[in-house]
Order: sequence, then C-alpha cells, then structure tokens
Amino acid sequence: MKSLLSEKQRLRIQTRHKQSIEQFGYQPQALFWSNREIQQIRFEKLVEILPAPFCEEQDVQRPWKILDVGCGFADLRCFLHEHGIAVEYCGIDLSADMVQSARFQHPNIEVHQGDLFDFDPDDASFDVVFLSGALNEVVETEVEQTAQFQGRYAKAVIRRMYQACRFGVAFNLLDARHPWVKSRVDLQSFLPDEMVTYCQGFAHTVRWQEGYLENDFTVYLHK
Ligand SMILES: C[S@@+](CC[C@H](N)C(=O)[O-])C[C@H]1O[C@@H](n2cnc3c(N)ncnc32)[C@H](O)[C@@H]1O
Repeated sequence: MKSLLSEKQRLRIQTRHKQSIEQFGYQPQALFWSNREIQQIRFEKLVEILPAPFCEEQDVQRPWKILDVGCGFADLRCFLHEHGIAVEYCGIDLSADMVQSARFQHPNIEVHQGDLFDFDPDDASFDVVFLSGALNEVVETEVEQTAQFQGRYAKAVIRRMYQACRFGVAFNLLDARHPWVKSRVDLQSFLPDEMVTYCQGFAHTVRWQEGYLENDFTVYLHK
C-alpha cells in the first residue's frame, strides 16, 4: 500500500525534527517529550506486551525481533537492553536527521529513514511492532482541509503494524478527552473507545490501558 503521507506532510514533520534536534541535541525535548521520565513511562507500558515468562526464559530462546516505528533516537532499544530484554532491533523514522542522530548514538543498530509504507515489511516479519509518540502530530487536516479525514493515516499505520507482527503490536496515542491535548491544533488525539473499536475490526485480541499519564493511552493488539 502506498503511503498516505503527502510530500508537504513529510516535509513538515522532517523540518520540525530538524529544528528540534538543532535546538536541543540528544534530549527528550528534541522528540517533543517534556522530559525523560514521561518517555520512559510510555516505554514501560509498551513493553508490558511481552510476557514475563518469555523474558525470563529468553536466554534459551532467540531474541525478540522488534520493529520500532517512529524510533526517534532509538531510545526504546536502550530501554529494552537496560531491562534485560534481548532484542534484534530495527527502527524506522521519517526524519533523516533523527535517523542520523540515532545511528550516531548507537552505531551498530539497524535504522531506516521513511514511514512504515516506504519500509513495507513482509507480513509477520517481526515478533512485536512498537510505536511511541509517532502518531501525535496532525497530518490530514492541514492538507485535506477537513476534519473528516483526521486519523485516517494513523489508522492505516496501526493496521499495517498488525500485518507486520507475528506476536503483537503495542502503541500509544494522545487521549482526546484531555483538555490540553484538545486545545493543541497541531496534535492528533483519539478517544480510547473509538480506537479499540477500530482495532477490533481486524485484530484477534485488543487490550488497552490508561491512567499512567494524564493525556495518553496504550493499546495492545495480539495475533
Ligand atoms: C515523539 S517522537 C518519539 C520518538 C521515540 N519513539 C521515543 O519515544 O523516544 C516521534 C518520532 O516519530 C517520527 N515520526 C513522525 N511521524 C512519523 C511517521 N509517519 N512515520 C515514521 N516516523 C514518524 C518523528 O520523526 C519522531 O522522531
């Protein structure tokens, strides 16, 4: 499937991240996280998709093969490593500057520039597909000029992530019920119920969690 992102949308996301890296360097603020803690809380929630017994037995099994969509500096890889979870990591990010920085931080990792549709993974080619924060920017309304299409790209990405996984998908989104989120026209947000209903249309099992941060929720999809 061809990416739904227009050149204008790509350029806007890439420019924002080029500027944020120039301003902040290797800091969470360059990723538009207000601090390291909220980034790590999101990671903690995402990795709950991995069953604990599998982690414990992992030394006798192969590492998790994971894809990190919108990987930023690939900090999720460090988080997994620090928590003793062995992974074969692959990150993708739309921003060439972000990819360059990720490679600089972690010279030996696999990181590609582009969106998920550019990368076009084979079905079930990763054990788990993660996404943290990469669908927080509005993409449709600036181009389509109508709210009718808002969220269309994000939903297509989530569905494609599910195709690419063998075991499951974990992603987070901004919660549209939060007043600050709602007030930001540059941010894209969703109602958890609506997103869960959407995912139930194609995923075998759908779970979600909220309450760990005031403006965020995490969805888990299992094959
Ligand atoms: C909020 S940052 C989070 C980075 C990383 N996941 C983390 O939590 O540290 C979002 C990242 O997603 C990337 N991004 C935004 N839209 C994207 C898209 N459609 N496809 C791939 N990457 C995207 C941005 O360039 C940015 O690096």
